[in-house]
Amino acid sequence: MDRPKEVKLALVTADWHVKKDNNKVLLKNLKLVSMIAKDLKPDLMVGLGDFPDCEGISRFSVQNIEYGVEDTVKEWIIVGDLWEDLCNSCDNKDLERHFCLGNHDGERADKVLYKLKKSSSAFLYNAINDALTPSKYLLNTKIYEHLDVFKFGDLGFFHGEHHGSSHPKKHADEYGMNLMYGHLHTSASSTVVTKVNKTPHTAITIPCLGDVNPFYMKNRSSAWINGFALVYLLPNQKTQSFVYQIKNGTVFCNNKIYKIQ
Ligand SMILES: [Fe+2]
Ligand SMILES: [Fe+2]
Repeated sequence: MDRPKEVKLALVTADWHVKKDNNKVLLKNLKLVSMIAKDLKPDLMVGLGDFPDCEGISRFSVQNIEYGVEDTVKEWIIVGDLWEDLCNSCDNKDLERHFCLGNHDGERADKVLYKLKKSSSAFLYNAINDALTPSKYLLNTKIYEHLDVFKFGDLGFFHGEHHGSSHPKKHADEYGMNLMYGHLHTSASSTVVTKVNKTPHTAITIPCLGDVNPFYMKNRSSAWINGFALVYLLPNQKTQSFVYQIKNGTVFCNNKIYKIQ
């Protein structure tokens, strides 16, 4: 059954962590999410940041930053192509595209550009600033700076800021509103209330779409999981959020089993 026209749907993914050379897990997960997008035809595609890994620009010093920028640009080009494919799979010409920058693709670039502004020529600064501009790669997409919150009814989307075992509570306490974020690559939520505003609000973190065991994790155990979220906006501007885990390439969603080998 189709959803009523007055109910808007956002398909939300986070933390792709695209590498320049190996994105096997991500590509599988994107295939699965694209199948769901094709069936559900969301009104909004929302990315919650850390899409390119940006390892390059954090690894090289400003003296030889061009090597790092080269790697990061390769990642951004892959991200742009995959984002375009995912958005096109919705088959919705009115699709809104929104992207909240994370610490990898937002903060890391900001830090490099800050250092370059102080120490390099205007020519080099302008060239690297241009190369690291997200809107060059994510076409027709509204981009939000790292930690800026994009509101969808009564819910705020952003990348996420805190780590630690009580991060959902900390986010809910500090931001004082309903939130959905990525950053931790896992699933968790916390509902709190303040003494001034007596309406409870909930912070929800959603799983990542990229590899849960990248090379730098060195097979350490972690709570990282794969998944995505669907958020429905009702005519009264209240949202209903559903977080899905992808397990062994399978998810049950929309009354259907979606499976990818
Ligand atoms: Fe991340
Ligand atoms: Fe992050």
